Amino acid sequence: MAQPRRYAVGDTPVPGYCLLEFLGQGNFGEVWKATAPGQTEVALKLIDLTGQAGLREFAALEKMRRIRHTNLIPLHAYWILDEDGHVLDVESLRGPATAVTSSRPVTLVIAMGLGSKSLFDRLAECRADDNLGIPHSELLRYMEDAARALDYLNRPYHDLGEGPVAIIHGDVKPQNILIVGDGAAVCDFGLARAVDSLRKTTATPVTVAYAAPEALNGKPGPFTDQYCLALSYVELRTGELPFDSALSLLGVINVHREGTLDRPGTTRSNWSCSASAASASRLARDPP
Ligand SMILES: Nc1ncnc2c1ncn2[C@@H]1O[C@H](COP(=O)(O)OP(=O)(O)OP(=O)(O)O)[C@@H](O)[C@H]1O
Ligand SMILES: [Mg+2]
Repeated sequence: MAQPRRYAVGDTPVPGYCLLEFLGQGNFGEVWKATAPGQTEVALKLIDLTGQAGLREFAALEKMRRIRHTNLIPLHAYWILDEDGHVLDVESLRGPATAVTSSRPVTLVIAMGLGSKSLFDRLAECRADDNLGIPHSELLRYMEDAARALDYLNRPYHDLGEGPVAIIHGDVKPQNILIVGDGAAVCDFGLARAVDSLRKTTATPVTVAYAAPEALNGKPGPFTDQYCLALSYVELRTGELPFDSALSLLGVINVHREGTLDRPGTTRSNWSCSASAASASRLARDPP
């Protein structure tokens, strides 16, 4: 159930950033279109940390800020607000999660590049126009862009301070792929890691719906993001995920673990899509 909104148009959660329009709500907070110093526009994500175990790998956000790619939504800046809404000194918060929780931060604010809408929103538009999903040629363009961004992240050459490493996005889904101009860009990369403690306590069907089996087992690997992208493709093209929408959370987890995604020959209409998801599933479960 949607939480009541904590912010309103005209609020300035961070000095110089004024909220203009509500964009959406995820499991951990609100996203707003905002004006930034210099009259530019950004997306502000406000994550409520109250009652959580604390912000893990705080430094991960700092590192992610250095990652740049045409098809990645850039992370511009971030702040921690205390319970009275005052900006805390980020320098004093570096270190383990305990250091963060001891100063009782309640809100993480992230300023990032602004997309015009998510692919999930675009799917809803297409379905309202009586289409099954996003038209093929348009969707392929977005998928190519997203795949390019994920390939870049997944290549083991990012220096985050401990030698070159691959970055796994960890939460690829239609809500995290945004339309920018006539292409697409992936957002929220690195966030799954930075706020890992939050996600572990609130695994939801939404996130689990796209989850690769190895990620469900706590061991995401080089094919994890591809698997999620394949599942996203199926949903965006056909309007449905490749399993029964009435399944329980555990049922969905079992479908991923056992690789029993719907196959051609049952009731669905666009089977080339499901077949590709099934292939991705096999690949992820049994990499070559
Ligand atoms: N940078 C952005 N530009 C434009 N819209 C955005 C941006 N980031 C998020 N949104 C919109 O806000 C919505 C909420 O985003 P948020 O990341 O909080 O949650 P989510 O991705 O839907 O789910 P989860 O809580 O599991 O991450 C998104 O679905 C998207 O429509
Ligand atoms: Mg998101």
